Amino acid sequence: MALLIKGGEIITADSRSHCDIFIEDETISRIGVNLDVPPEAEVIDATGKLVFPGFIDPHVHIHLPFMATFAKDTHATASKAALIGGTTTFIEMCCPSRNEDALEGYNTWKQKAEGNSACDYAFHMAVTRYDEKTEAQLREIVRDGTASFKIFLAYKNFFGVTDEEMFYTLKLAAELGVITTAHCENAELVGQLQQLLLGEGKTGPELRGVKLYVESVLPHLLLDKSYAERPGVDGMKHVMSPPLRAKHNLPVLWDALQVGLIDTVGTDHCPFDKEQKLLGANAFTQIPNGIAGIEDRVNLMYTYGVKRGGLSIHRFVDALSTRPAQLFGLFPRKGTIAVGSDADLVIYDITYRGTISATTQHTNNDYNGFEGFAIEGRPSVVTVRGKVQVRDGFFVGEPARGRMIRRKPQYYAQGASHAD
Ligand code: URP
Ligand code: ZN
Repeated sequence: MALLIKGGEIITADSRSHCDIFIEDETISRIGVNLDVPPEAEVIDATGKLVFPGFIDPHVHIHLPFMATFAKDTHATASKAALIGGTTTFIEMCCPSRNEDALEGYNTWKQKAEGNSACDYAFHMAVTRYDEKTEAQLREIVRDGTASFKIFLAYKNFFGVTDEEMFYTLKLAAELGVITTAHCENAELVGQLQQLLLGEGKTGPELRGVKLYVESVLPHLLLDKSYAERPGVDGMKHVMSPPLRAKHNLPVLWDALQVGLIDTVGTDHCPFDKEQKLLGANAFTQIPNGIAGIEDRVNLMYTYGVKRGGLSIHRFVDALSTRPAQLFGLFPRKGTIAVGSDADLVIYDITYRGTISATTQHTNNDYNGFEGFAIEGRPSVVTVRGKVQVRDGFFVGEPARGRMIRRKPQYYAQGASHAD
């Protein structure tokens, strides 16, 4: 299979150039001006369009038993929605509950995804309990190519770990060289660790310093708490965790994103339909929390960031593709346009004008939390490892093309840390 993408403007995290891209089999084999290619190669004319590396959503929930129900998407629906919106790889949170066996859970998640995803995917392994058996299983899971953990400090007794379990998880992650993503922080633990350090005779203020990276998610950049305060089910649609905040926080987040204090923008994609949200009609604590976004992240961030918000186009590519690839061990196979990289490409039509609507979405849900938001641009063609999967808003590809991307431990993530 040979494919030539001709005449587009390639945009990466740190460069832009008018070049052709030649793809053989699944990877980019040449990049250059007026490339001479075999006559049998399929040609896509990208004149007047931008060519981005396939976008990576580093935080999604697809199979998710949660709050007495299940998130609505399947791997088939979510992956097609992702691709139509320009996301070519997602990293799903594998979240067995605290009472379940970690390895059994991991295998369940893998089986659900295998042969059912139209785009590539990887997993963050949620550590929801930590004992000797879990530790041995986590070692096996990392050997299998799942090189990142997730811990929840919220959701005590379900996904949440105790402080001690968190401590041992982080210790194991450091030993194995895998990165840990975390939901929130914990003041109680700060107090406990202070006592530990004092007990070790460490009385000075100097600190070892740790590598810390920051993710924000689409709803927190575009929605504020007034959405969750709407009456009835309209408010419930916007219940997520951590909750939407006051509007004055949004410009602060956008500024932090622009200067790179926020490394990545994911979605925390987690659709629940209206009937599910109404499980919490009599008690807000029972509202399944989550907002979908896998389909709309790229278009909304391009429109409200790059077009209207002054976000640099390179930071946009960086936060939505390159940085997640670097932090989670997918780079340079994913996250950039370079010779040898997977040919995951988004040919982006900046002249498209549209409106987000549940009536046209592919995500499996009966509303859209961003209903009515205008978009200025959308993917015209999306390829996954050289195969055209989307054309102008329609899925046209192979439903089972997606593969699990096995990742190696990194020991340290590439790029500068905020502790440096
Ligand atoms: O509200 C959210 N974020 N739902 C998904 C589960 C989680 O907390 O990540
Ligand atoms: Zn989440």
